[in-house]
Amino acid sequence: MKILIAYFSYSGNTEEVAQLIEKKVQQEGISVDKYEIGFGIMPNIEAYDIVFLGTFTWDYGSTPSEVKDFIADIGYKPERMAIFGSGDTQFGGEELFCQAVEKLVHFYASKWDGLKVEQSPRGSQEQIVNEWIEGVLQDVAVTA
Ligand SMILES: Cc1cc2nc3c(=O)[nH]c(=O)nc-3n(C[C@H](O)[C@H](O)[C@H](O)COP(=O)(O)O)c2cc1C
Repeated sequence: MKILIAYFSYSGNTEEVAQLIEKKVQQEGISVDKYEIGFGIMPNIEAYDIVFLGTFTWDYGSTPSEVKDFIADIGYKPERMAIFGSGDTQFGGEELFCQAVEKLVHFYASKWDGLKVEQSPRGSQEQIVNEWIEGVLQDVAVTA
């Protein structure tokens, strides 16, 4: 199995989630590549069994344009897209919290709930992140 973690982050929170995912996946002995959206060469999405796609939310529940461009560059909807992101309930409460994650889960008709992290995942939310990853990997192991 081969996994890609593609993420976009301004101030580092979504990047921290990406790092936790990378660590956990490596611990499971699975091959993983990490790609920061907008930097370097566009990865070959078809080469991966699962893509973890991460984004923060901004501008009243919007998805950053860089993430939209990345999605357009992919050009198709991979079957196994696991969506994660960080947000902040101070910007519009529960309704707008991590709306970009919700939107992408819907867009890809992802079989997994999106992972929504309040700002940095460090501390109490780390457990939630790990459980979410385990859920994704378990599903794939069962259906592979
Ligand atoms: C101008 C602005 C608007 C934001 N709007 C939202 C929002 O609508 N929903 C939300 O959940 N978070 C919102 N946020 C919070 C960010 O998504 C949050 O800080 C996130 O952790 C940033 O991710 P990053 O550190 O990976 O860049 C907003 C932040 C800024 C600066």
